[in-house]
Amino acid sequence: MFELPPLPYTYDALEPYIDARTVEIHHDKHHAAYTANFNAAIKDTPLQGKTVEEIFEVIDQYPASVRNNAGGYVNHNLYWQVIGPKGVAPKPMGMLADAINDSFGSFEAFKEKFAAAAMGRFGSGWAWLVVEADGKLAICSTANQDNPMMHIDGTCKGYPILLIDVWEHAYYLGYQNKRADYVSNFFNIINWNMVESLYADALMYYATKKQSNTQHKDDGHGGCSCGHSHH
Ligand SMILES: [Fe+2]
Repeated sequence: MFELPPLPYTYDALEPYIDARTVEIHHDKHHAAYTANFNAAIKDTPLQGKTVEEIFEVIDQYPASVRNNAGGYVNHNLYWQVIGPKGVAPKPMGMLADAINDSFGSFEAFKEKFAAAAMGRFGSGWAWLVVEADGKLAICSTANQDNPMMHIDGTCKGYPILLIDVWEHAYYLGYQNKRADYVSNFFNIINWNMVESLYADALMYYATKKQSNTQHKDDGHGGCSCGHSHH
C-alpha cells in the first residue's frame, strides 16, 4: 500500500503565494484521492507490492487508470517537498547553481524558461526541471499526470528535481485564470536545498545505473527516489 505523506508544513505556510484553503484541498483531497485510486488501480495486479520505479518501467503495459494515478501520487509527493515557506532556501547554491548556469546561461534565464514551460502547457499538466543521463539539466513539460521517469512515449525525460503543478486545482482559488501570476509567485516558495539534494540523488542514480549496466549489460536499474518520501 502506498501512503499519503503528511504535508511537511502547515496549510498556511505557503501564504501569500498559495493560500491555506488551496493547500488543504490539494493535499487532503486531490493528493489523497490519487493515493487511494493508485492503490485501487494496482490491487490484485502484478504491480501490487512493486516499487514506484518498477511500476514506472512497465506503465505502458497497464490501463490509463494506473498511469494517471501513479503519476498523480508520485508527482504530488515531489511537489510538496520542493516547495516551502518563503526564504528557507531562496536560491540555488553550489553544484546546482553551477549546473543551472552551465545549462541555461544564468539563474534568470532558467526562471524564464521554466515559467515558459509552465505557461506553454495547454490544459492540465506539469513543468519540470530534470537531470539527463549526461548530468545536464533540461526543462520540459508533461500532460495530465505523466512523469519524466515513466516508460511512455514522449520527449520530456530525465530524473526530476523540480516541478510545478499547473492543473487549475493548484491555483484556481487564489488566482482564478491567472496562471502566469501563480507561476511567477512559485519562485518565492521553491526550497532550493531540497532541489539540490535531489540533484545529488540524480547524479548518484545515473552513476549507479551506469555501473550496473556495465556489470550486467542492460538488466540493471539504479534506485530512483521518484519523489518518494525523501529524507
Ligand atoms: Fe495537483
